[in-house]
Order: sequence, then C-alpha cells, then structure tokens
Amino acid sequence: MSEGAYHLGMVGLGTMGRNLLLNMADHGVPVAGYDKDDARARTLAAEAGQRRVGATSRLEEFVGWLRAPRAVMMLVPAGPIVDSVIADLLPHLQRGDVLIDGGNSFFKDTDVRSRMLAQHGVHYLGVGVSGGEYGARYGPSMMPGGPAEAYERVRPLFEAVAAQVGGDPCVAYMGPGSAGHYVKMVHNGIEYGLMQLIAEAYDLMKRGLGMNEDELHDVFARWNTGDLAGYLIEITAEIFLKVDDRTGKRLVNVILDAAKQKGTGMWTSQNAMDLHVPLPVIDMAVAMRDLSGLEAERSAASRAIPGPPTAIAADRGPLVATLARALYAAMLLTYAQGLAVLGRAVAAYGYGTRLEDVARIWRGGCIIRAAALERIRAAYRARADLPNLMLDPPLGAAVAERAGDLRTIVGAGAQSGIPVPAFAAALAYLDAYRSASLPANLIQAQRDYFGAHTYERVDERGVFHTEWRRA
Ligand code: 6PG
Repeated sequence: MSEGAYHLGMVGLGTMGRNLLLNMADHGVPVAGYDKDDARARTLAAEAGQRRVGATSRLEEFVGWLRAPRAVMMLVPAGPIVDSVIADLLPHLQRGDVLIDGGNSFFKDTDVRSRMLAQHGVHYLGVGVSGGEYGARYGPSMMPGGPAEAYERVRPLFEAVAAQVGGDPCVAYMGPGSAGHYVKMVHNGIEYGLMQLIAEAYDLMKRGLGMNEDELHDVFARWNTGDLAGYLIEITAEIFLKVDDRTGKRLVNVILDAAKQKGTGMWTSQNAMDLHVPLPVIDMAVAMRDLSGLEAERSAASRAIPGPPTAIAADRGPLVATLARALYAAMLLTYAQGLAVLGRAVAAYGYGTRLEDVARIWRGGCIIRAAALERIRAAYRARADLPNLMLDPPLGAAVAERAGDLRTIVGAGAQSGIPVPAFAAALAYLDAYRSASLPANLIQAQRDYFGAHTYERVDERGVFHTEWRRA
C-alpha cells in the first residue's frame, strides 16, 4: 500500500493487538500493525490474508504508512512499557495526531501521559478494552476517555468493531482525561468480586455438598438461563467439562489453587479507600487472591488447626436453589459497590461520565456482561444521580427478597468451615447500608477518650470533647 494509506496503526501485535486489528480490517478499514518482534509482524501478515492490513517491525515504515493526522493505538502491557513505546513514537508524531492506549493502564499514569503529550499537541485517549482475545477479534466492550474531539475521529471505527447489543454498540465516550481507564479499572474490580463469589459458590457445592464436575456443570448451565445469566457463569459451566489432556482428569482439578493478579482489582480497592467509598466484596476478592497464594502456609495451617467437617448437612436441591438466590443478591451488591466508587470518582475527578452509559456498554463484549446489567441500566435511566443501586426500588427489592438466602449461605459456610468471605462481606455491607444506626458512636467515644479527637452529638450541633478519665 502507498504512503499514508492506513487509517489506524497498532503498536503491539500480541494477542489483543492482533485480534483487534483484524476486527478493524474485517470492517473494511485499512490498518497497519507494528511490533519490534518481527515474528509477530509476520504472524499478523499471515492471519490478515487478503485484508488491507500492513505489518512491519520497522517503526519509521509503520509511521509513514499512516494517514495524517495519524491515529496510533498501543496494545502493550501496562506500566513502563507504555512509557517506552510513547518515547519511541513521539519523535515520529505530529501536532494533531491521536495516540490511544488500549491497555489496562493505571488511570493516574494516563493523566500524566496525556498532560505530557498535550504539550506536544498530541491527543491522548485512554481506552479500556474488555473481552479478552475473543472480544478483541469479534467485538469487545470499549471504554474511551480523553479529549472529546479526538474521540470523535475514531468513534466510527470503534462503534463498528465493538460488541453490539440489539444494534447498540458497546462503546461510549466516558469523559476527559483518564475517565476510560478509570471505568475499566472499576470493571475489573467488579470482575474480581464476581469471580470470588462464583468460586465460593463452587467451594460450597463441591466440598460442602460433595457435587462432582458434571453436576457443577449442570447447575451453572441452569443458572445461566435465569437471573444469573452472564458471561462468567457461562464460562464457569464450560470449565467443569474440560478434560486435561495429560491426566484424563477434569482440568479444573489439576490447576493449582493460587490465583494470580495484574493489579487492577487492587487499584480499585486502593482508590476506593482514597475516596472513602466502601467496597468490601472487592477488597475481599483481592485479599482472597493474596491468601490463595500462601500455599505453603495454608498447607501447614491445615495440619495444625482443626476445623469442623466440611460436609453440609442439608438437602442438596433446596440449598443449591438458596445459593443461586444468594449469589444473585451478592452479585448485585458487587455491582452496587463498584458503581458507587465510580459515581464518587466521576464527581471527584470531573469525568462527567453517565453511569447509564457505563451499564449500557457493559451489557455486551466485556467480562462482567450479564443480564443484570439491563436492570442496572434501567436503574440509572430512572435516576441518573442514584448514589447506590440498593436505593433503586426494583434492585433494592431484589436484594431484600434474597437477604434471607444470603444469611443461610453465610451461615452454612461458617458452620462447615468453608470460607465464604465475599458472601459475608456482601451481607455485612447490605446490613450496614440499610442500618439507620451503627456502633460508630462508640468509636467516636474511644477516639475522644484516648486522643481528644472530639465528637458530634445527636441533640445539638457543634464539636464536643469530654474528659473521660475518672478523676
Ligand atoms: C478484560 C479483563 C482483562 C484482564 C484480565 C486479567 O476485561 O478483558 O479484565 O483486561 O487483564 O481479567 O486480570 P488479572 O490478571 O488481574 O486477573
């Protein structure tokens, strides 16, 4: 192809970059890919076949191929690699070019980079892209943030390649600066919470009720046809059927029980604490990934510290039905917590994001897509400034109706010694949130007692201090 003929260039031809580029090419857009690693560039060229796709491992050639003003997207691992790619690209970019970071970058890094690039006249878009390899290839959910006029330039392309739900693309402008990466971070925080809840449900059914993988498959497949329907439930059902090539056992049973993480869930918890927004299910999900990694200690403790028999003395059918209802309530509470911190961040960082748009673009393509998001969207449509999904009458009622099920499940976990901390955190959050009185008065008294930190009174305005020690 001739100079300047390609509409978008992709830096980073790993799984995500390559697949998103092929997705763009499928929509008739001429695109070019660059990777330092020539083998990756060649893989792209081979996969592209007759499509209008350029592939190279030479940066100058790549930049020369792009139509001006250029649109360059990076899909490289978050962290210092993004800065080094920017440093490599910058000498080749011109005022008016758009640079897009489609990785899971920390939102504060995105703010720093976008300010630096603005000084060079380069528009920087931080775009959350969710849906893994398949999503990138056939339709991800995309969460773009940055200068609105720069987004307008790539909007038609993004709308074409994004997942569609009922003809509606799962992409929308999230706001200026790091808005897109913030929304993606919260998406991942919710993802961690939902995955932990599903894992606890699995543990209760496997260790507590003695269910085998075929039975677990059937339960999750059935769950995927009702209230709980969603991508994570769907893939969980499939996981139980997969057989390990090496041993002939179910693969899930030969996978080490130590969950890894790249940091996005932890960032959600850390930033929620900075903003003083409670999201205990997500905190617990991060903590449980960390705890799962203490394999040697867990193994020693399992021998040293006895617990009750893990078998749950209950009829399987009714308890599984209770578990489904509890899981749905806990999942709604997880979305509520994630969206509550997002709401606070929208105000604190001036993103201006509409939470209805967020729920709308999460309905398809992304990892946390679920039937519940249509109901969540309806909640924000009814009230754009809803502070918490639990205050939406239909969703609040759905959770209230299942609170008894949550109590049963948390009780079953406590009795059997099977840890269900995310369920317990969801229930405690619900009980605290719906509690007009909390014991924080005592904490205030203690703070004033030992540190003269003062307190407020229920019967009079002002700030008070008492000499607590008896003379
Ligand atoms: C997505 C995912 C993805 C993320 C993985 C791994 O939306 O497609 O969130 O972006 O990288 O889920 O995350 P962890 O390694 O932290 O589990």
